[in-house]
Amino acid sequence: MIKRSKIAGTGSCVPVKVLTNKDLESMIDTSDEWITTRTGIRQRHIAEPDENNSDLAAEAARRALSMAGVDAADVDLIIVGTLTPDMPMPSVACLVQKALGAWNAGAFDVSATCSGFLYSLSIADKFVKENPAMKILAIGSEVLSRRTNWQDRTTCVLFADGAGAALVTGSDDQSGLISTCLHADGKVWDLLTIRGLGTAYPVDQDLLSKGWQYIEMKGRDVFKHAVKALESVANECMERAGWNNDDLDLLIAHQANIRILDFLRERLNLPSEKVFINIDKYGNTSAASIPIALDEANRGGRLKKGDNILLISFGGGFTWAGVTMRW
Ligand SMILES: CC(C)(COP(=O)(O)OP(=O)(O)OC[C@H]1O[C@@H](n2cnc3c(N)ncnc32)[C@H](O)[C@@H]1OP(=O)(O)O)[C@@H](O)C(=O)NCCC(=O)NCCS
Repeated sequence: MIKRSKIAGTGSCVPVKVLTNKDLESMIDTSDEWITTRTGIRQRHIAEPDENNSDLAAEAARRALSMAGVDAADVDLIIVGTLTPDMPMPSVACLVQKALGAWNAGAFDVSATCSGFLYSLSIADKFVKENPAMKILAIGSEVLSRRTNWQDRTTCVLFADGAGAALVTGSDDQSGLISTCLHADGKVWDLLTIRGLGTAYPVDQDLLSKGWQYIEMKGRDVFKHAVKALESVANECMERAGWNNDDLDLLIAHQANIRILDFLRERLNLPSEKVFINIDKYGNTSAASIPIALDEANRGGRLKKGDNILLISFGGGFTWAGVTMRW
């Protein structure tokens, strides 16, 4: 029988600096009340100028390795989901390899926006199914604050920085990943973008004056697509696992908006204690949001042996994904 892959350790790391809604009131025309009721966010963590994506990713990875009792030298592969790498070349994964001294690991980044962690976890799952002895770090890590226009109140209240990691290896029992579902729709790519700083547009005065180095979002359209895609992938992934909604012990969804999470709770008919929420503390950390939540749930004793857990994500591209696993 093919062995399952399982998560043997989790870790996360957010910058120390906290930016509250009250702080934002003094920076732009907004209010704590507007941000809290429309998004559920109360505060977020923001990297200092000398703090980079790879620093956060490496620390989250160290914590996951420590929990799993695995040495960096024994890691076979490092996969980082991110849309805010330190630089276009090298990958964040290579910088994490260096920081950890994980000299025996292959390393690459995955570009799947807020679904970056679930895409990475799904790739790790396939490798481990082929060779259960493999030890793979799946990471989601972002420094979105440097791609945020701090004058644009429609986006700057939402996005934030952080990293989460999982050490994935072969399972000895029935615990582990059961189904993985990956989706994308490039037709609507322009609803959520960072157009500049790739190779399509030169970095010149025109680009900077358009603000194309920053996140641009048609918030209402994104919201409508997100709720539809998340509900659909949740049902698809549970069906593939052979679960009904009643079988689910915990839903960890991408932390983008409390209203999206409330919508999912209602549509999936789940009691509130089965929907994990930490958006109030961290805001939207894109690829990092699910592994940070997973680590918090794990360390907080919310994940019990044998629990059925569903992870679902949605982000620019669009991309969306789901993973079911038995803890
Ligand atoms: C961004 C989002 C919170 C905006 O909420 P909304 O209810 O759609 O609000 P709207 O964009 O319609 O704006 C309503 C009003 O609030 C204003 N507004 C926008 N941002 C504001 C802010 N930070 N503070 C105060 N007012 C604000 C708008 O200018 C608008 O004013 P107007 O009616 O005078 O034009 C919401 O659309 C959303 O969460 N979308 C999904 C975003 C997401 O999840 N993205 C990431 C996916 S990975």
